[in-house]
Amino acid sequence: MTRFTRIAGLGHYLPPRVVTNHDLEQLMDTSDAWIQERSGIRERHFAADDVGCTDLAVEAARAALADAGWKPEDVQFVIFATLSPDLYFPGNGVLLQHKLGLGEVGAMDIRNQCTGFVYGFAMADGVIRMGTCDRVLVIGSELQSPALRLTTEGRDTAVLFGDGAGAACLEVCDGSASRVLGHRMHSNGKYALELTIQRPGAANRPWISNEMIEDGSCGIHMNGREVFRHAITKFPAVILEVLADHGVKPADLALVVPHQANERITEAVRKRLDLPDERVYSNIGRYGNTTAASIPIALSEAVTEGKVKRGDLVCLASFGSGFTWAASLLRY
Ligand code: UT7
Repeated sequence: MTRFTRIAGLGHYLPPRVVTNHDLEQLMDTSDAWIQERSGIRERHFAADDVGCTDLAVEAARAALADAGWKPEDVQFVIFATLSPDLYFPGNGVLLQHKLGLGEVGAMDIRNQCTGFVYGFAMADGVIRMGTCDRVLVIGSELQSPALRLTTEGRDTAVLFGDGAGAACLEVCDGSASRVLGHRMHSNGKYALELTIQRPGAANRPWISNEMIEDGSCGIHMNGREVFRHAITKFPAVILEVLADHGVKPADLALVVPHQANERITEAVRKRLDLPDERVYSNIGRYGNTTAASIPIALSEAVTEGKVKRGDLVCLASFGSGFTWAASLLRY
């Protein structure tokens, strides 16, 4: 049998605390109108102080395992995408392996920010297709609220990001009904500093200092206009590339699940592909930008809402820090 990969189960988790734009108005000089008009975001979820990124991931992973009908011992490999790990090292993959009570299986982290889940999805597909494993758990989870500067100085990024987690159980199949078709991945490190947290970093001496904390270099820096400018061209380009690889036209897609960075970016992608609103998924209004978690959360919701059915063609696509951009095409 030729080996292919299918999604066996999906799950997602948002921490219960909802923070609205009006809540942020109390903390900084911003407005609900500005945030909604520029980004489409109305509210986001922030985790409680005693919750870590892997705690969110555990909830999403348990939901995905239940959806797939897997027990923890069925998982043979873990791929964890995040930019907000619990520890500088080791990565979240091993922490999740332990918290979920998995066997002593391989576990790794992907540090690709907004495209982390798509890159992880592609790696899992490779691991399954080459015969190394039959069942892989891929997670995107982010706990971004602790790094946000919830003040007027930090408002350019603080209003955009949220916490959450999504997970997918991928398993080997014969490809006759469902299967992952392929992937395209790109990067251009020339733009690495346009969206970054630069400190602490091992290229710097000293590794960390009080000055770095005070001058804001331990916080998120984003050149929003530059990111936006690239996103609206690279996003549709990488989608069209992966579709062309498989002879698929945009109109054949049941759903595009784009990374949720900005409603205006999603709208630009939709227009470029000439698709109706209901075929490009959007939940940014409720969750903000949850970075590596946004695609698995959106895909899990879309399936729950009946927007994707078995056999439908679905495209996952993302653009973000790095810059990196990537897309995956699958028959769900
Ligand atoms: O997932 C990672 C990928 N990230 C992205 O894709 C983000 C891409 N970029 C964007 O989504 C948009 O650039 C933003 C939503 C970040 C910003 O929208 P914009 O239309 O590009 O606004 P801007 O940065 O040009 O700022 C416009 C004005 C500025 O004031 P002046 O200089 O015109 O007086 C900002 O200081 O808005 C001001 N501003 C704010 N005002 C109220 C910036 N942040 C805020 C805020 N509330 N939170």
